[in-house]
Amino acid sequence: MLSPDNQTPAHANPDDGLPLLFADTFGGKPDAAARAPGRVELIGNHLDYNGGRVAGATIDRFVRVAARKRTDSRILLSSRGFGETVEADATRLEKRTGAEAWANYPLGVLAALRRNKGLEPGGLEAVIDSSIRAGAGLSSSAALELASALAFAKLAGATLTREELVTIGRSAENDFVGVPTGLLDQTTCAFGERHQVVFIDSKTGASSLSPLPATARLWVFTTGVSHKLADSAYSTRHQECREAAEFFRKRSPGVEWLADVSPAELEKAAKVLPAAVGKRARHIVSENARVRQMEARLREGDLAEAGKALFESHASSRDFFENSCPELDFLVAELRGQSGVFGARLTGGGFGGAVLALTSPHFSQEQAREVAGQYAVHFAVPQPKVFACATAPGACLLSL
Ligand code: GLA
Repeated sequence: MLSPDNQTPAHANPDDGLPLLFADTFGGKPDAAARAPGRVELIGNHLDYNGGRVAGATIDRFVRVAARKRTDSRILLSSRGFGETVEADATRLEKRTGAEAWANYPLGVLAALRRNKGLEPGGLEAVIDSSIRAGAGLSSSAALELASALAFAKLAGATLTREELVTIGRSAENDFVGVPTGLLDQTTCAFGERHQVVFIDSKTGASSLSPLPATARLWVFTTGVSHKLADSAYSTRHQECREAAEFFRKRSPGVEWLADVSPAELEKAAKVLPAAVGKRARHIVSENARVRQMEARLREGDLAEAGKALFESHASSRDFFENSCPELDFLVAELRGQSGVFGARLTGGGFGGAVLALTSPHFSQEQAREVAGQYAVHFAVPQPKVFACATAPGACLLSL
């Protein structure tokens, strides 16, 4: 996908460029177009497949998809960022590897539309434009899934509810791409709104919005360490959490999910649980409590206390879930020393990706640059991308 930033002049509406991109690529006009935002995970690290509560917010970085039906069964997917057109056949949707692997998200959406909704858009051509840095932990994949789902469903004459969007996106990711992710990304992407945080109950999938206080600012500090490399580590954590949940289910009646375990039960089991599994459980149980704290602190508008929960969340991910890395830890430590920073933590899957910082409006671009500069010197790399982001509306169809 495209590397972010500066691809459109600040005054232009980037949605307007999409029909032009389509015309340049395929000629003529698209039949459907859609846009879906990236997200930050505010807190609730790896709780979304453990029956916990998670919080995310949609940000003003987007994937846009414009598509047109074909009369044959050919599928042509063109991504401006990847610079390659991937060809497929609607009658035989097969998983891609290597440089074409990005196409598994839209192809997975087509497979899910067929399986879950009986929808057959048939052959199509689509352009994909993205301002979400892939591999940064900002969920460019869910955005690609949801924008594709909206546009492709429209080609098949259907509209999808937000709940259906979540189901289609998750099915593409879990069943076609094959990563056992939870529901945070697609739910946030579908239900996010400007100035709001999406709180999600991962047991039921239900979500609710809670206002982000007006003085809160969100910053993203990328590490440049692609968390794409971490798919297998994600699956390992998933498996360890399943083992832990299984252990407690047998021992403590009433426990169905790992997040149901009480701190006292966890304490009692500490000696008998395998060390790694015990650590994962410790993270999940304490993180679930932090999400509730965060919810209360945001409601009260107490950003200083909300920020503390972010720092604590990062320490727990680092020490117990062990999904941080030196680059993420460095950024969080640097941010802790900056005035105006309430809190910071890794956001998303971890093992690379980005750090999210919650700051006051006084935290400045100069300070952000200083942190990025320290990072560049410490790791002897170019300055990492750093940006402030505004909250944004969830996935939607675009009028043409
Ligand atoms: C990734 C996954 C999400 C969630 C986070 C960690 O972003 O896609 O489902 O598990 O990691 O909280």
